[in-house]
Amino acid sequence: MSAAAGGRAVEAVPHLYVHVPFCPKICPYCSFYKEASDRNKTQRYLDAILRELDAWQRPDDAGRPPLRPRTVFFGGGTPSALSTPQLEYLLTGLRDRLDLSALTEWTLEMNPATVSLEKARLLRSLGVNRVSMGVQSWEPDLLAVLGRVHSAEQARRSYDILREAGFENVNLDLIFGVPTQTRAQWVRSLEETVALAPEHISAYNLTYEEDTEYFRRFASGELTQDTEGDADLFELTADLLASSGYEPYEISNFSRLGRECLHNLAYWQGGDYLGLGPSAFSTVGERRWANVRDTALYNDRVHLGVTAADFEEHVPATMRRAESIAFGLRTNRGVAADTLAHWPEQVAEFAGLGLLEIAAGRALLTRKGRLLADTVAEAFV
Ligand SMILES: C[S@@+](CC[C@H](N)C(=O)[O-])C[C@H]1O[C@@H](n2cnc3c(N)ncnc32)[C@H](O)[C@@H]1O
Ligand code: SF4
Repeated sequence: MSAAAGGRAVEAVPHLYVHVPFCPKICPYCSFYKEASDRNKTQRYLDAILRELDAWQRPDDAGRPPLRPRTVFFGGGTPSALSTPQLEYLLTGLRDRLDLSALTEWTLEMNPATVSLEKARLLRSLGVNRVSMGVQSWEPDLLAVLGRVHSAEQARRSYDILREAGFENVNLDLIFGVPTQTRAQWVRSLEETVALAPEHISAYNLTYEEDTEYFRRFASGELTQDTEGDADLFELTADLLASSGYEPYEISNFSRLGRECLHNLAYWQGGDYLGLGPSAFSTVGERRWANVRDTALYNDRVHLGVTAADFEEHVPATMRRAESIAFGLRTNRGVAADTLAHWPEQVAEFAGLGLLEIAAGRALLTRKGRLLADTVAEAFV
């Protein structure tokens, strides 16, 4: 906590997100804001991130709370698409500007094609202590279907490099429900992942997102979704990973004890966060805003000293509470049962359908309820 100008104590913002919008190659299913790496834009982008942070931290009368991150998350896009010197420039610049005395977790997302020992060692030495790497599948034919830039062998080598560089907290991302993927292939990918013993596994059901090549192929009928098959793979995933020592602490996220992603947990529990970079969202108190989804425009705006945000909304406490319920229900802790006291009929209905259960003062989604988490959550908004 620190004192605001009027003497009133204000909470420091405890979470920082930095969006790196560059990728070695664009995957046809992905709707995160990104573009192919472009050396001409990158230095200007790195400076814009540092300037955006400076603008937040500049003392003035705008009433911005200080930033004292407990977690930092570099997401994308592909942060590891930046070169080693570029990462050194950016991370050193951030370290010089930030109060990192409360930092416990610093995650950086990587693509296996962009990992080197030199880069991994540099990141580790600058304070990054968690890596999240997109493997998606260990099957060569499925990596091709997903348009991935790396091979399974390269993903294995990159994983070994991360360990060699001293990373003791590694997440691997996998995707199921991929066109042509068989049940046996998914089991193999899970088993190969477990055999590597990462601390955390994210297993995402493929979604067809608007403005992606996959969505266009889905809309034209060329690709189809097998909802029942996906539900079966979801159940199988939870069973296989639980029996291998991974706690299913959120619908798509599994971890060894005490290795949950603290940054994502904070989002799901309704914490405040500041986001830097194109397309990044921020939520601080009752303000939420998002930066432009255009790197060149983001760079221009920040360097001109005007706001990079092109969206802002007021999120009153009631709305933030509703969001916390929706996100909280996705986690294995659920939400305090009395937070649902306004909706006795919905609670009774979902409990009757076997989607929700109340235990020890907490409301939790059942395994069946997790498959319908979005529908259940909507009822409480
Ligand atoms: C922003 S990416 C970062 C990882 C890194 N860029 C890479 O691809 O290796 C985060 C993760 O989102 C997941 N993802 C992206 N698009 C998805 C989709 N349409 N459906 C399911 N998962 C998706 C992938 O598992 C990916 O690894
Ligand atoms: S999945 Fe990762 S590498 Fe592929 S386009 Fe999305 S952010 Fe980039």
